[in-house]
Amino acid sequence: MTTSDVTWPRSAGPLTLRPPTPEAVDDILTWRNRPEVTRWLLRTTVDPDAFRTAWLGVVDDPRDQSAVAELDGVVVGTGSLEVRDGMGQSDGDAWRGAEGDLGYLVDPAYAGRGFATAIAGAMLDLAFSELGLHRVTAGCFADNVASWRVMERLGMRREQHGVRDSWHAELGWIDGYTYGILAEEWRSRG
Ligand SMILES: CC(C)(COP(=O)(O)OP(=O)(O)OC[C@H]1O[C@@H](n2cnc3c(N)ncnc32)[C@H](O)[C@@H]1OP(=O)(O)O)[C@@H](O)C(=O)NCCC(=O)NCCS
Repeated sequence: MTTSDVTWPRSAGPLTLRPPTPEAVDDILTWRNRPEVTRWLLRTTVDPDAFRTAWLGVVDDPRDQSAVAELDGVVVGTGSLEVRDGMGQSDGDAWRGAEGDLGYLVDPAYAGRGFATAIAGAMLDLAFSELGLHRVTAGCFADNVASWRVMERLGMRREQHGVRDSWHAELGWIDGYTYGILAEEWRSRG
């Protein structure tokens, strides 16, 4: 399944999610390398040309369902969902392409308005309702409180607390969290 096989655009609260265009990627680049954005990312500062190529390539990548989030036509964030194999025995293949890695970014000018929660919720809906995934996970630095609050608000479980398992360029080895949610948990949310 490619990005073009998925139903776009998708609503995310007040936002609209759609596949990236060259103009939208240039909009992301106006804030993507700001220190407030890169502080807790693994992939910190990005090269604009490499970023453009990677983002525009997702449209044809069946395992990458990344999208831009717009508010009244302005790109205020991004959501990403990379499909990958789960863990499983070689007899059978239910685990192939059964899991997703979730990611989200919000332009700092629009932070604190629930937009990351809306984006991540819409990406989980895509993962479970349309792609039929079994499980979605996401990782973050333990100190990135805003990020794990987003995941907890959506009902994701903290499955791992890695003690000093994550390298941060300024802080050295610090703690990391992994969150997860199953399709049945998403469907039975109150
Ligand atoms: C983390 C990020 C996605 C949050 O986006 P957002 O749109 O501000 O998030 P929301 O408004 O949906 O919700 C944020 C939650 O975190 C809380 N929060 C926001 N900023 C916070 C801060 N500095 N410290 C503690 N909590 C914070 C909010 O109160 C809310 O939690 P609550 O519902 O318990 O009140 C955004 O700041 C961002 O893009 N950061 C840079 C990239 C990044 O770190 N991405 C995640 C990588 S794992």
